[in-house]
Amino acid sequence: MKILVTGGAGFIGSNFIRHILATGKDYSVVNYDKLTYAGNLENLASVADNPAYLFVKGDICDAGHVEAAMRDCSAIVHFAAESHVDRSIYAPRSCVETNVTGTLVLLETARKLGVARFVHISSDEVYGDMFPEMFAGEDSPLRPSSPYSASKAGADLLVQAYVRTYGFPAVITRSSNNYGPFQFPEKFLPLMISRALDDKPLPIYGAGEEQRHWLHVEDHCRGLLLVLERGQIGEVYNLGGTDIERNIAVARKLLRILGKPESLISFVQDRPGHDRRYALRRDKIEKDLGWKPRIPLEDGLWQTINWYQDNAEWLSKVRGGEYQSYYERYYGNRDSSLLEIARSKPQPS
Ligand code: NAD
Ligand code: DAU
Repeated sequence: MKILVTGGAGFIGSNFIRHILATGKDYSVVNYDKLTYAGNLENLASVADNPAYLFVKGDICDAGHVEAAMRDCSAIVHFAAESHVDRSIYAPRSCVETNVTGTLVLLETARKLGVARFVHISSDEVYGDMFPEMFAGEDSPLRPSSPYSASKAGADLLVQAYVRTYGFPAVITRSSNNYGPFQFPEKFLPLMISRALDDKPLPIYGAGEEQRHWLHVEDHCRGLLLVLERGQIGEVYNLGGTDIERNIAVARKLLRILGKPESLISFVQDRPGHDRRYALRRDKIEKDLGWKPRIPLEDGLWQTINWYQDNAEWLSKVRGGEYQSYYERYYGNRDSSLLEIARSKPQPS
């Protein structure tokens, strides 16, 4: 089966492509990616020469180019997105263009070409804040808080409208916060790991009391393959993680693993509209497809930290160029105030 994977040079997409090609099944992959700041072909160096793998550089908003890449593919797994909440707050337009308009272009093209299966990768963020003890089920209302989550919810609604109106063969997955190898260091865990490795302050928003439902990317990819192979058309599947944990607790855990002092923790101005808690019910996918995440956060953290330590060159390359200017632009002031705070505290031993 020939599959078009969009956004395959990003964090989850590249893990998924390596996962699917390692199954030994009869899959071939076309990786269609614009290579934004978040796309990195080095994530796929291990499969670059695999005859079942082809990279095509392109934008999902470009209908003509999408059609050429999609031809002969019988399934689409759609990861491509502007995926970072903070960036969406500063630059909502590109987020809506890629996440909503880009998804519309893919749906239209797939419908025109008669693609047999379309797996749309969405997020638990579309459900918005969960109160303590609350868990989102697939039928919970969509209450997005940020431009990012609103654009993901918009895309989900378009996919559902295509299923209902055109009988389009789509399935939606909504997963919780992923972590693991090859994650771009703007997201919480790789940002904190990379800064702790450099003995730099860890910028924790607010009081660090927000909770995220952590899912190792290998568990996620295993679940996505099951959805691709056996998910019911028209259904939504939540892929919830193993551990629901406060940000501050995760930061402390990783400092303990790295043997770094807690004085590196620095509380900074909160994210506007910050969702307090995400928590997903995953009984549907457990019952229907027999999927459960297997890697507890403690084990996954050790493995991820080791990966970033062993891949210092990868990290240093992705932290060059655009990353530097992004960090200056969005975190510059915070960083200097962080440095002031850090200076007034005991220095790391
Ligand atoms: P990422 O930012 O690491 O990768 C996104 C990829 O999409 C990049 O390779 C980028 O170059 C590509 N891309 C962006 N705009 C494009 C465009 N217009 N045309 C073609 N390619 C484009 O993202 P990720 O963390 O791997 O997330 C992948 C998907 O999973 C996204 O849809 C995201 O919303 C969803 N998701 C992510 C998480 C998470 O914790 N990271 C959790 C749930 C859902
Ligand atoms: O829940 C799924 C979502 O998880 C995905 O849909 C998104 O694509 C993905 O980016 C992620 O969104 P979050 O906003 O939860 O992830 P982020 O890594 O940006 O932040 C995780 C938590 O850490 C959140 O509560 C904000 C906090 N945080 C983040 C950063 C970058 C900090 O305290 N400091 C920081 O510098």
